Amino acid sequence: MKILYISISGNTRSFVQKLTTYAKERNAENPAAPLIEGKEIHENSDFEPETADYFAFVPTYLEGGNGIDNGDVEILTNVLGEYMDYENNYQRCLGIVGSGNKNFNHQYCLTAKQYAEKFAVPILDDYELRGTPADVERIYHTLVNAAK
Ligand SMILES: Cc1cc2nc3c(=O)[nH]c(=O)nc-3n(C[C@H](O)[C@H](O)[C@H](O)COP(=O)(O)O)c2cc1C
Repeated sequence: MKILYISISGNTRSFVQKLTTYAKERNAENPAAPLIEGKEIHENSDFEPETADYFAFVPTYLEGGNGIDNGDVEILTNVLGEYMDYENNYQRCLGIVGSGNKNFNHQYCLTAKQYAEKFAVPILDDYELRGTPADVERIYHTLVNAAK
């Protein structure tokens, strides 16, 4: 299973690494358990058409707004959305996992929700910051089910 993600301060990268390790452990016990391959998108990424299905992991960086009734501006993560737009790459996206910080109240994981709406793909789950071991376990199984 492939994961496309962006990570500005390293939390999403760390979470995807933990998922990759968890998948390897499951796969060692049971060869039918899918492995995970992460692909980080960043400002200097070469854009290319995605030829296999993937999940998008989307952290939240917003400036302004309250998440309810006034404008908020996506900052820093925009290149992931542009990549998903490129050559209709979003059509290969099986679902989005959002991350953020609950201190942001109504703006918690709002970018993931905005991408889900824009690209008409489901939000599968969310977690805070680097996630907990329980998040890793739950989200791995969520991806396995969604990839079927
Ligand atoms: C400037 C800034 C703005 C942020 N805005 C939001 C926000 O609107 N909603 C939210 O849920 N989290 C927000 N966060 C928290 C990040 O989404 C969270 O720390 C996330 O784990 C960062 O992922 P990364 O380390 O992979 O970049 C913000 C963090 C920063 C530094």
